[in-house]
Amino acid sequence: MERVWLPALSRDVSRVALGTWSMGGWMWGGADKDAARATIERALDAGIDIIDTAPAYGFGLSEELLGEVLDKRGTRGEVVIATKLGLSWDSRHEPWRDSSPGRIREEVVASLSRLRTDYIDLYQVHWPDPKVELDQTAAELRMLVEEGLVRAVGVCNYSADQMQEFCAGGRLDASQFRYNLFERVVEEDVLPFCRARGLITLAYSPLARGLLSGKMTRSHEATDQARRGDMFHGEAYARHLSAVKRLDAFAQEQYGRRVVHLAIRWLLDQPGLTIALWGARKPEQIDAAEGVDGFTLDASAMVEIDRILAEELGA
Ligand SMILES: NC(=O)c1ccc[n+]([C@@H]2O[C@H](COP(=O)([O-])OP(=O)(O)OC[C@H]3O[C@@H](n4cnc5c(N)ncnc54)[C@H](OP(=O)(O)O)[C@@H]3O)[C@@H](O)[C@H]2O)c1
Repeated sequence: MERVWLPALSRDVSRVALGTWSMGGWMWGGADKDAARATIERALDAGIDIIDTAPAYGFGLSEELLGEVLDKRGTRGEVVIATKLGLSWDSRHEPWRDSSPGRIREEVVASLSRLRTDYIDLYQVHWPDPKVELDQTAAELRMLVEEGLVRAVGVCNYSADQMQEFCAGGRLDASQFRYNLFERVVEEDVLPFCRARGLITLAYSPLARGLLSGKMTRSHEATDQARRGDMFHGEAYARHLSAVKRLDAFAQEQYGRRVVHLAIRWLLDQPGLTIALWGARKPEQIDAAEGVDGFTLDASAMVEIDRILAEELGA
């Protein structure tokens, strides 16, 4: 498994991380706890030693399952836990944003308990909270680092300007954003900002919520909330499936791989991209991660991939 050194954590990790949103069930049609536990186990066995979670994933469930598995294996110290703060929810599981210093204090205690640990390796703000000054959130997180509860600080879904503002209040080590072959808006300014600052970057939805796995078909439109975007429905869905088919053929002809491997390899070969967060909720889904190693995409392959995307999806 390809690895990368993270100076902010003074250690290396696998460049493929396990993402635990779907296994928590929220927005994904419910959870299967046994399959989730087995998926975490399988990822660890495969050498994946960074796992991304959040309180909102299953309203505590994903963090609890991760804490349970690591506790059982006795390997907490070998694994980088990346979790989040800043999304609260009510009894109807309606989430809202709150990154105020007081709320951060409550959240860190709850996450540490669910994760059965006394520190969080990477603590990330889940979404920017328009009601709280970004530098106040940053200052509180810096204090958590000073107190030893947190080792590194990250943000998710922040613009370059928001990251700049955040930096004025405290340290920023990492940035997490949606990035995959079909969703590339971060190439405009977020990724260049991170590259210039030397931030750890984590791409979420690397398989476009499963569309780039190659398993989705025209006759079976997804109904999960997580897949409510345009590209999962109607004409746009047909065009994306057609692109997936051509990318799969390209991956097979050129590398003896499949589109699922090409999609992750493409991300890992982007300058400035550190880690791909592979979301899985069944053990066999993460088995495909081993096919990401052993090949790279050169400049002509990148051009060919862009040509396929332009022909199928437009500019
Ligand atoms: N910070 C944020 O705001 C944010 C937002 C989104 C995600 N994330 C993080 O990023 C992680 C990954 O993103 P994501 O879950 O949105 O999307 P993703 O990784 O693009 O897709 C995950 C889904 O793809 C399908 N899949 C995965 N591997 C497969 C395989 N080998 N074969 C067939 N299908 C496969 C599964 O769908 P089925 O389970 O339906 O089969 C899985 O749940 C999340 O788990 C989370 O940790 C963070």
